[in-house]
Amino acid sequence: MHTKEIIHSYQVRYISDKDLSLYASLSIGFEVHKVFDVAGTTLENVSLIERVLETPWYKDYDSNYGEGPLFWGENWSLKNWKILIAYKGDETCGGCVLAFDTDGVNMLEGRKDLAVLWDIRVQPHCRRSGIGKLLFDEAVKLAESKGCLELKVETQNINYSACRFYESQGCQLSEFNRGAYKDYPDEVQLIWRKQL
Ligand SMILES: CC(C)(COP(=O)(O)OP(=O)(O)OC[C@H]1O[C@@H](n2cnc3c(N)ncnc32)[C@H](O)[C@@H]1OP(=O)(O)O)[C@@H](O)C(=O)NCCC(=O)NCCS
Repeated sequence: MHTKEIIHSYQVRYISDKDLSLYASLSIGFEVHKVFDVAGTTLENVSLIERVLETPWYKDYDSNYGEGPLFWGENWSLKNWKILIAYKGDETCGGCVLAFDTDGVNMLEGRKDLAVLWDIRVQPHCRRSGIGKLLFDEAVKLAESKGCLELKVETQNINYSACRFYESQGCQLSEFNRGAYKDYPDEVQLIWRKQL
């Protein structure tokens, strides 16, 4: 008798902003075991230099009061936002959120031809299996279908995986800002862009 191999495939589906609690159930936390030191003063001479930490620590953006998915609707109109969830069968493995043309979202620069990848997260046990790429590809397709010329995303130098991930998806570093976060003076804001 032959054993039939079950190949799990992932599916991406859109959910409504009314279902952000589902999105919030996905973990955005990660262990900071490696960081990028940002050397240089301009984009022309900047370099990101990997450094392994002696003492890893844990970062969870959602733990900052008022900043997780459940608060987005209080701060912005989500009318033009798109929320994607990656499933393996019934299991939610990851998700991403794209913001388009929304007043008050400074990252959008008042442009209608720019999309912001507002959030992307993959469940810790599912990371490094291509789900992030699947979501990112879908986000790119969506942004292109809306006539956007660029996709923009923010991360920090302490998020090694995200930096490597955005780089692997064809994003380029377009800004770095030391001192951008008053509560996290040691973190450097990194803005990445992908031309569509
Ligand atoms: C960033 C994140 C979404 C990536 O998702 P993922 O499903 O693990 O990514 P993928 O498996 O699709 O990786 C695609 C490529 O990105 C790069 N990459 C992703 N994670 C990496 C890591 N930890 N180290 C080095 N490269 C990495 C690799 O090139 C990888 O390709 P490979 O596995 O064939 O080498 C995931 O790490 C995550 O959820 N992190 C916590 C939440 C977070 O920080 N979100 C971003 C906030 S700005």
